[in-house]
Amino acid sequence: MANVRIAPSILSADFARLGEEVRAISAAGADWIHVDVMDGHFVPNLTIGPMVVKALRPHSSLPFDVHLMISPADPYLEAFAEAGADILTVHPEAGPHLHRTVQRIKALGKQAGVSLNPASPVELVETVLGDIDLILVMSVNPGFGGQSFITSQLKKIERLRRLIDDSGRTIHLEVDGGVDAANAATVVAAGADVLVAGTASFKGGPSQYAANIAALKGH
Ligand code: DX5
Ligand code: ZN
Repeated sequence: MANVRIAPSILSADFARLGEEVRAISAAGADWIHVDVMDGHFVPNLTIGPMVVKALRPHSSLPFDVHLMISPADPYLEAFAEAGADILTVHPEAGPHLHRTVQRIKALGKQAGVSLNPASPVELVETVLGDIDLILVMSVNPGFGGQSFITSQLKKIERLRRLIDDSGRTIHLEVDGGVDAANAATVVAAGADVLVAGTASFKGGPSQYAANIAALKGH
């Protein structure tokens, strides 16, 4: 799994020590920091907002991969961009105008991602393929860490890999939910190049982070 990137989800970090956790996981070999933003409306959980992203920004030089599970997302894009997000990913169902939302993210100078829930069809991203930098496949229903990988998503990952390759564009294919050292190689073989991992990155505490990331990379 030579070029796979690991994006630890800080949802599984110790929230009382978030800055230290981001430092520790960055030093342990993480490639991106995945930030799960939930609004208690689009998904049944509440997490963090732009103020926390801003507070964490000085703790890592890695790209901040901000996954917006909020509806609507548009009113908050600028705040997350200013807080230090590098990638802003939205769900098509979170607003009526996905194309406009993607253009807004690009206008803020950030990379734009689109995320598909387990029941969301591949067709939802097809019309914006020429504009986006990342597709995020949810392999659990969004809202919580620590759920089991939904294997039916492997077919979707394979289809999206073909679509991306046919487009000739550079678009990351990121997979989020239930990814661990045991299934990482299968997910990468299906076509993913970025793996989000919450539980599998942060389990065992800071002394285990380097081994956790290495295991996810297949070492
Ligand atoms: C779920 C989040 C995921 C989650 C992943 O809504 O988008 O990023 O935290 O956690 P694990 O790796 O524990 O499934
Ligand atoms: Zn996520």
